Amino acid sequence: MEDIKTYLTEREIPRQWYNVQADLPKPLPPPLHPGTLKPLGPQDLAPIFPMGLIEQEVSQQRWIDIPDEVWSIYKLWRPTPLCRAKRLEEALKTPARIYYKNESVSPAGSHKPNTAVAQAYYNKKEGVKRLSTETGAGQWGSALAFGCNVFGLECKVYMVKVSYQQKPYRRMMMETWGASVTPSPSNQTEAGRMILAQDPNSPGSLGIAISEAVNDAVKRDDTRYSLGSVLNHVILHQTVVGLETKAQLKKIGVEPDVLIGCVGGGSNFSGFCFPFFPEKKQGKKIRFVAVEPTACPTLTKGLYRYDFGDTAQMAPIVKMYTLGHTFIPAGIHAGGLRYHGDAPLLCLLYDEGFVEAVAYPQNPVFEAAMLFARTEGTIPAPETAHAIRAAIDEAIKCREKKEEKVIVFNFSGHGHFDLAAYDLFLSKKLEDYEYPDEKIKEALKDLPKV
Ligand SMILES: Cc1ncc(COP(=O)(O)O)c(C=O)c1O
Repeated sequence: MEDIKTYLTEREIPRQWYNVQADLPKPLPPPLHPGTLKPLGPQDLAPIFPMGLIEQEVSQQRWIDIPDEVWSIYKLWRPTPLCRAKRLEEALKTPARIYYKNESVSPAGSHKPNTAVAQAYYNKKEGVKRLSTETGAGQWGSALAFGCNVFGLECKVYMVKVSYQQKPYRRMMMETWGASVTPSPSNQTEAGRMILAQDPNSPGSLGIAISEAVNDAVKRDDTRYSLGSVLNHVILHQTVVGLETKAQLKKIGVEPDVLIGCVGGGSNFSGFCFPFFPEKKQGKKIRFVAVEPTACPTLTKGLYRYDFGDTAQMAPIVKMYTLGHTFIPAGIHAGGLRYHGDAPLLCLLYDEGFVEAVAYPQNPVFEAAMLFARTEGTIPAPETAHAIRAAIDEAIKCREKKEEKVIVFNFSGHGHFDLAAYDLFLSKKLEDYEYPDEKIKEALKDLPKV
């Protein structure tokens, strides 16, 4: 009888992160200064990030040591189990084998603490006292609140106003770990005041909250900014997920055919898949499938262009698939999948054909979430349910073609604070939303001219 869960011992938690920059098929286009449009140097980033993270952002070294202090904190919840979704397979009557890497067992309930803890550590090491950040539905904010708490840093979170009002439990979680949470747009920053002057009732967006958090950091000597996705160093920290998965699959002698993850800014997907990239580059047949909402179809409908990382045009300009920095997302429930761009590393590998992408509306996503909850038990985060939808569809294809493939997906988080969305789904009140092509064309007119 095969085990359902594959564990590693704590000593088998990776000691190094994997840096895909060492293996890219071509160099990453350089990030540009939002004011001068010239390539950014480390000094330009210094008011925002500590040097340790800036070095990781540009490093070409394949392996980067995980500091002992970070590794010891990882031990609070890592290694996370790799689980066989046997009951889901049986419900689908598929010959495929489905596995999922369960990142929902972290203190904050998602993969986000993998980088939050590392970022708090590097800031602390360089004498930073306070971190500012943004959060949408609260997953990232709660992870950073936890990370800051562990290393004794203050944490200031600008939370998208509509989520602040609708999702009080994540705010309470952040406050439990000692963070201070402000609804965004706020009148505490220039960026926030600018938005409020245009629209006093603005519900906020991730782009606006990023502007506020960056603004906060550049105005104070004791503060740096922290981003929960998109950047190279964030993806680097998340590779602990893929490295463990690889070791677990090896332990049970299983070769994956397809790896699946949802994409908001790209960090859980990339951290999960990139450690398998060297083999893929050498010709091994492993598919990487990125899943996004049709309401925010960055990879499937966006363009590969230089764009601002935020609405107020203060964050660096990077080359990425984008829907335009003025993109205002529809109110879908996967709050973490509503960013207008994606990680430059992921975008490059997508553009080069190493990654596939698929988009789903939210009703089929919640149907998948229900089936998962009713077979495997854990209630997934709406973001994670996108990956589950794609895994289920792959498994159904295997049933139709009678193929015994191995499907592995990243279970990026649980949905215990997203039950209002489940309630709407159960009462048939969730609306599907397809982002209109005309709006994409319109927003792309505002791209920086570089
Ligand atoms: C549970 C969960 N999964 C996935 C994501 C998407 O982010 P990323 O693409 O950076 O992994 C989020 C973001 O908030 C999240 O909370």
